[in-house]
Amino acid sequence: MWTISSALLLSSLLAGVRGVAIEKKPGSRFSALADVVRNPNYPLDVVDKLEESTMPKVEEWLTKKIEAGTNNECTLENAVVRKEWSDMSETERQEYVAAIMCLTKLPPKSDPERFPGALSRYDDFVAYHMTHAMQLHDNYHLFGAHKYYVWLFEEALRNECGYTGYQPYMNYDRYSEDPLNSPLLNGNASSIGGNGEPDPDYKGVPQPGRTPNIIASGGGGGCVTEGPFSDLVISLGPTSMSMGSKNVPKNPRADGTGSNPRCLRRDVNRNAAMGATADRVFSLINDNEEMDGFYNQLLGTPPPRNDPYPWGIHTAGHYIAAVDPGGDPMTSPGDPLFYFHHTALDRLWWIWQMQDPEKRLYAIPFVNSTMPMDMKQRRAPDPKDTIVDMEWLGPAINLMETHDQLGGNGGAFCYIYV
Ligand SMILES: *[C@@H]1O[C@H](CO)[C@@H](O)[C@H](O)[C@H]1NC(C)=O
Ligand SMILES: *[C@@H]1O[C@H](CO)[C@@H](O)[C@H](O)[C@H]1NC(C)=O
Repeated sequence: MWTISSALLLSSLLAGVRGVAIEKKPGSRFSALADVVRNPNYPLDVVDKLEESTMPKVEEWLTKKIEAGTNNECTLENAVVRKEWSDMSETERQEYVAAIMCLTKLPPKSDPERFPGALSRYDDFVAYHMTHAMQLHDNYHLFGAHKYYVWLFEEALRNECGYTGYQPYMNYDRYSEDPLNSPLLNGNASSIGGNGEPDPDYKGVPQPGRTPNIIASGGGGGCVTEGPFSDLVISLGPTSMSMGSKNVPKNPRADGTGSNPRCLRRDVNRNAAMGATADRVFSLINDNEEMDGFYNQLLGTPPPRNDPYPWGIHTAGHYIAAVDPGGDPMTSPGDPLFYFHHTALDRLWWIWQMQDPEKRLYAIPFVNSTMPMDMKQRRAPDPKDTIVDMEWLGPAINLMETHDQLGGNGGAFCYIYV
């Protein structure tokens, strides 16, 4: 019941919130950084500090490009900022969630014969990922094609659903100790929904070749019942590669493209999240001079030894909320968490590139291993001849255009991370 004392309590709580010393981003020449406010609950970790110390280098490099006229009109003044989820205000977070719900209500543009299971514009992105997963994850495309893919998703949110912000990323370290009670996955109104109901049939995500050889279930696995995406309808999938519970209903088509409306299932998983703590991410960026090493360590190849969470950052980030569709490498973008993860990887790649932009910006890894996650490996004659064709999502562009987020894609890419 609403009483005077609860009103007083509320106002003192609000005063307390206002009273917290908020940290503003210190002076940078990037205009957009002037207004960034950080969440006081999360002091900067080693990766954030590395990023901060890299910013002068980034500014100097962009300034050089501006002088040379190769910046495609991307400048220190008009570059926008992608923020960490917890650094966004609760209003901004709710605006993001509402924009995703909006995309799930818009009609699809993909071919309905080929994808009867694509029920919305949101599903158009899932349909692309599920039919291009092998290419999207090869050594040529893992970074650049995903950068473009996430950017097109961000554009759809902004242009088709009136979202005024940019795609958030997750700093894994903020949530790795206790993802269930984190601002991202605690299931309250400013999260992206909570855990799934317990499903005893769900055991976790197998990790052949690693010790331990499974990311053991965190106790969820069933339908998400709390928070923003508890009424999200998943339709595409599962495919034969799904590692979800056997209780996930089968798709009417063998390739998973049929219509199969069902709930979002999750196992919010600390065992996975602990594989992406700040020390591990820092090592990924700091210990790899060469792209090959960076790529392999990201994928956990060769498997780290004497590490209780030896998954590699890419695997760890995906399975923070596995099951369905998060546990299906083909349809994983069906869980909005996918976009937080791949945006985080984009940020790590960028920090790595910016340590030595001249040498690292266009680096492509060569892969020669038999780990399952490496999928298809190849070395085309020249990466400059590689085209990223987004079909119904957006125009085909040259792979090299996807490597530079400050001026790439004809200047359409013009963003930084904070
Ligand atoms: C949601 O949870 C976060 C993290 O605990 C908290 O900061 C926020 O105030 C909560 N918001 C709502 C609307 O309950
Ligand atoms: C790839 O690895 C195999 C087995 O480890 C090795 O025999 C082969 O020479 C390698 N190829 C290249 C191009 O490095």
